Amino acid sequence: MPDSAALPASDARLAGHPAGLRRTFAIISHPDAGKTTLTEKLLLFGGAIHVAGAVKARGEARRARSDWMKIEQQRGISVTTSVMHFEYGGAVFNLLDTPGHEDFSEDTYRTLTAVDSAVMVIDAAKGIEARTRKLFEICRLRDVPIITFINKMDRESKDPIELLDEVASTLALDVSPMTWPTGSGQNFKGTYDLANNRMLVFDNTDKTRIGEVIENYQIADSNFAEEVELVRAGYPAFDLESYRAGHLSPVFFGSAYNNFGVKELLDAIAAWAPPPRPQPAEPRPIEPTEPKVSGFVFKVQANMDPNHRDRIAFLRLCSGKFRRGMKLTQMGTSKVLSVNSPILFFAREREIVEEAWPGDIIGIPNHGVLRVGDTLTEGETLKIVGIPNFAPEILRRVRLEDPMKSKQLRRALEDLAEEGVTQVFRRVIGGDHIVGVVGELQLDVLKTRVEAEYNVHIDLAPAPFETARWI
Ligand code: G4P
Repeated sequence: MPDSAALPASDARLAGHPAGLRRTFAIISHPDAGKTTLTEKLLLFGGAIHVAGAVKARGEARRARSDWMKIEQQRGISVTTSVMHFEYGGAVFNLLDTPGHEDFSEDTYRTLTAVDSAVMVIDAAKGIEARTRKLFEICRLRDVPIITFINKMDRESKDPIELLDEVASTLALDVSPMTWPTGSGQNFKGTYDLANNRMLVFDNTDKTRIGEVIENYQIADSNFAEEVELVRAGYPAFDLESYRAGHLSPVFFGSAYNNFGVKELLDAIAAWAPPPRPQPAEPRPIEPTEPKVSGFVFKVQANMDPNHRDRIAFLRLCSGKFRRGMKLTQMGTSKVLSVNSPILFFAREREIVEEAWPGDIIGIPNHGVLRVGDTLTEGETLKIVGIPNFAPEILRRVRLEDPMKSKQLRRALEDLAEEGVTQVFRRVIGGDHIVGVVGELQLDVLKTRVEAEYNVHIDLAPAPFETARWI
């Protein structure tokens, strides 16, 4: 188990402050590596859900694109699971869901700007896959510390040394194995905890059981003993500062499906993952311990209830103690909002929250005032920086089937642009709307949502432009 007594001096500034208990993180992976399963098991260990299957239903539905969109339209489900707040081992976790589809969307990038660390799930049989790599690169841009979980050890896997070397060389990251597996698939017998000399036994016959732990384990198998020595000598020891700086990733082996290795992972997040860091902002960075509240909107979700054109802005708190009913000023417009119904999202429900702290994510219902990238403060003029805007890679001309609906179309496109589903451009003089996206799937989402939520049927035709750039 990780030793939480060895926290770095930089955490001292948060000692005794509720922000110091926050662990705000995301799970990144290639589809099918086991992100949904791991999320669910983390929530089970965290006591946030009590039955397996609650999150799973969504994972399955998401696999088929059309089903995924149907599910997305049932706003309730998507919203309650897009941020999950739970407590475990004295720490308070905020787990942010990165959208699970294969394509990239701006939503994914922005979500990663709101976390302090990430867990990277890798399928033991497949190693690093395309999407993991891309998501990793985003994390790298901000030096987000990453814990690696090599999943599906109960299946035939690649050689663990090969897997580690692949992570290290493809991602240019030091890796430090924390546990070491013995066998895989039918022969998977468990993992050896390298720091604490104990064996976590995998019970192949009763997979619902969480592995037995044998303390002071004497390795009898000489081949395995030799391998463990080799691994100890061949990889750097875990170094918290290096992990926190985003240079070294501790690696755990396990099987999310079988609850194996999940507790060790959660303990590691509690002990090592960074609490909120100072937030880069103009004209000065923001310290989490500052008394005044500040935060930024990294996601807006519209039409959660199709009968009301409401929106929920997801605000990542960066400083201060947030209290229900407080007034926050939107930077740029200087509009003052009374936040009377802030929402905290749990695995299965959402609740009006009375107070929240840096690292927490609160949902603010509003009527389109709040936009992605907005900074909110108690009055001081500050602009939180580092929330990226992306140059669209795919442009399409929007053709309307019923020309009488151009007003509704404009409304729909404006709303969805606000949410970050697409970017919208118009030619200086007349002409159709042009939409721009980063990933192909955003186009499907746009079309489906414009039809389902605004009753406007559109066709997306190739645009007469290739790129759009800010000038
Ligand atoms: P994702 O969110 O990353 O896309 O992956 P998800 O958790 O949905 O898992 C993808 C598949 O991998 C699922 O199988 C899931 O059960 C399986 N899986 C996850 N973790 C493990 C593991 O530790 N061991 C094994 N053997 N399988 C694992 P599926 O067949 O698509 O769904 P289901 O029939 O299991 O529900």
